Amino acid sequence: MTNRNDTLVVGDDDPAFVALRRDLPILSRTTDAGRLVYLDSAASSLTPGRVLSAITGYYERSRANVHRGKHLLSEEASTLFEDAREKIAAFIGAEPATTIFSAGTTASINLVALGLRLRPDDVVVTTSADHHAVLLPFFDRCELRFVDVGADGVVDVDRVVDSVDARTRLVALAHGSNVTGRVHDVAAIAAAVKAKSPSTLVLVDAAQTVGHVPVSVRDLGADFLAFSSHKMLGPTGVGVLSGTRAALDALAVEVRGGGMVRLVDRTRYELRALPQKLEAGTPDIAGVIGLGAAVALLDELGIERIAAHGHALAQRLAHGVRDLPGAALLGPADGERLPLVSLVPRSTTVSADHLAMILSDTHGVMVRSGHFCCHPFFDALGLPGALRASAGPYNTTDDVDAFVDALRRVLATLLR
Ligand code: ALA
Repeated sequence: MTNRNDTLVVGDDDPAFVALRRDLPILSRTTDAGRLVYLDSAASSLTPGRVLSAITGYYERSRANVHRGKHLLSEEASTLFEDAREKIAAFIGAEPATTIFSAGTTASINLVALGLRLRPDDVVVTTSADHHAVLLPFFDRCELRFVDVGADGVVDVDRVVDSVDARTRLVALAHGSNVTGRVHDVAAIAAAVKAKSPSTLVLVDAAQTVGHVPVSVRDLGADFLAFSSHKMLGPTGVGVLSGTRAALDALAVEVRGGGMVRLVDRTRYELRALPQKLEAGTPDIAGVIGLGAAVALLDELGIERIAAHGHALAQRLAHGVRDLPGAALLGPADGERLPLVSLVPRSTTVSADHLAMILSDTHGVMVRSGHFCCHPFFDALGLPGALRASAGPYNTTDDVDAFVDALRRVLATLLR
């Protein structure tokens, strides 16, 4: 495969990516409109057979609870679970002890919001482009202060720093935007925030970047980092809260139950150490094992190679849609972006939902429409919503071209 500048796009023909596509039978599905083209990975990625096998393998061979028994199956399940934790921790440059399993990015951020025991006069700084999962856990708990972001998706470091004051407990923002595709320099933002206010913590929503570009908790300088399995080839319903040991250990433990305590009597309890003290109740054992298998696969593919393939798809997507007469592209016009494009129809008679339906029903192209859980961003810009195409490592230049050609034709028909 070649791109428009005739540069080799390694991901398409690379045997590892070919094998990944073969391990995704869903890609062989046809629709009434022909070949199925899945370009909604920013909402949820596809899950390869190898990950599914790891999950069913646990259910078929080692089904038992973890850390609660001395019998063979419990030992096996615990080993599979903790091996997965080690792999996942290494993947983001963290320690197993600071890799907490949750139900996903949303649950991870809620764990932080609860654990900070915010008071009404505390401040959390975020941006107008952030996801509801970043915003809503702090509603009603403190003052939520927004840094405005324009349609280009740039987060201005100085404006973030200007918003931080002595009352600011936390700065919470995305590493990569699920709307604009822009990847923010959170290392620079975290360093600038801490230079002004050393006690202010930084939380990074890495749901769109872990598994797509190299991410290291340490390099980002974040106190907390949250991400979800289902956006990185893993199963739904599981995710991670990572961070520094100091920040995680300082969280009040507000979610309590079995598995996280050393002892309990009628009046008191003694918590276990990290990570267990933040993992109350039986965890999503199969989900964690599945996420571990997904990370092993991502490691084999190589995150640098995945990022290079994502970059090539991103450029092709952006080049393909940026001059479409019927729709305006959000986010960076040129340069680095995640492999996603969000487009706002220029005509008020054509909605993004309508476009997504036609693309699905008449072209077999699955893309997302709406506000992508970022209502404040669209409201601030006075935009009605957008159409988004987002790629994963299994997508090809053919998929991108199929989307661009289909969209071009649909817009030409509707705007005739
Ligand atoms: N918020 C996710 C998205 O961007 C689900 O689609």
